[in-house]
Amino acid sequence: MADVVITEVHGKVGLIRINRPEAMNALNNEVVDGITAAVDRFEADENIGCMVLTGSEKAFAAGADIGFMKEFDYMHAYKIDFITRNWERLRTARKPVIAAVAGFALGGGCEIAMMCDMIFAADTAKFGQPEIKLGIIPGAGGTQRLPRAVGKAKAMDLCLTARMMDATEAERAGLVARVVPADQLLEEALKAAATIASYSLPVAMMVKESVNRAFESSLNEGLLFERRVFHSTFAVQDSKEGMSAFVEKRKPAFKNR
Ligand code: HXC
Repeated sequence: MADVVITEVHGKVGLIRINRPEAMNALNNEVVDGITAAVDRFEADENIGCMVLTGSEKAFAAGADIGFMKEFDYMHAYKIDFITRNWERLRTARKPVIAAVAGFALGGGCEIAMMCDMIFAADTAKFGQPEIKLGIIPGAGGTQRLPRAVGKAKAMDLCLTARMMDATEAERAGLVARVVPADQLLEEALKAAATIASYSLPVAMMVKESVNRAFESSLNEGLLFERRVFHSTFAVQDSKEGMSAFVEKRKPAFKNR
């Protein structure tokens, strides 16, 4: 049987590809555990500075595997700590992660894309939270991250009507960082990831941590957090290197220290 999650290393970028084409990349335990293991591996690898999560041309992921979920009862879901147990590894990744989305990103698929730091969408991408059609609600952050990304009106529209949003609308609404032609999606995502990975890794991690703080705190607290982290960058050797390189008109050689 083919691996349902494939990993590749492209220079300093770790690529994670969901590979369950017969089920539109539906997310079962095997897929989610595969993503978790890949994130663990790339987080631990000092050579990796950024990750890209992608699917296939047809589907990033069409959601949680419905056949697998339909046998659940409440006690089972509670006891196994469904979602919390293994779905949130993307959220806790400290290195930046780009979701490269082509085709369907529905339900849990849209939710794992939103756990990433930014979404690059192919012009074929379709986003949605259609859980209501199944008699359930989004359970991996859809009702929380979607309104933060696109506002209440569109989040309510998507979650209550189950309609899909195309890439253009998703970019206009703020869910997506960039829309690119489908045949350039991976190239563009890997290029951006390589750019991120060319910078000082601890500093990229600090940027990520600070931006994420904006969603967890008041403006005052967020600004204080940013200021403290900013001050701490003067203790990072790479900041000396970056500023010296600019002044000396040369390329910086960051050492991730
Ligand atoms: C299991 C799925 C699946 C899913 C597609 N498949 N989505 N299997 N779970 N989420 C399977 C189909 O059963 C079918 O298998 C094969 O993939 C191809 O799908 P088709 O439906 O034949 O393709 P198409 O007509 O092109 O329609 C594509 C689609 C549709 C629009 C994506 O498949 C669809 O609506 N899927 C369900 C989307 C959804 O409801 N997602 C939310 C899931 S709930 P066979 O064997 O027939 O070929 C969820 C909960 C999140 O995510 C909360 C916690 C994480």
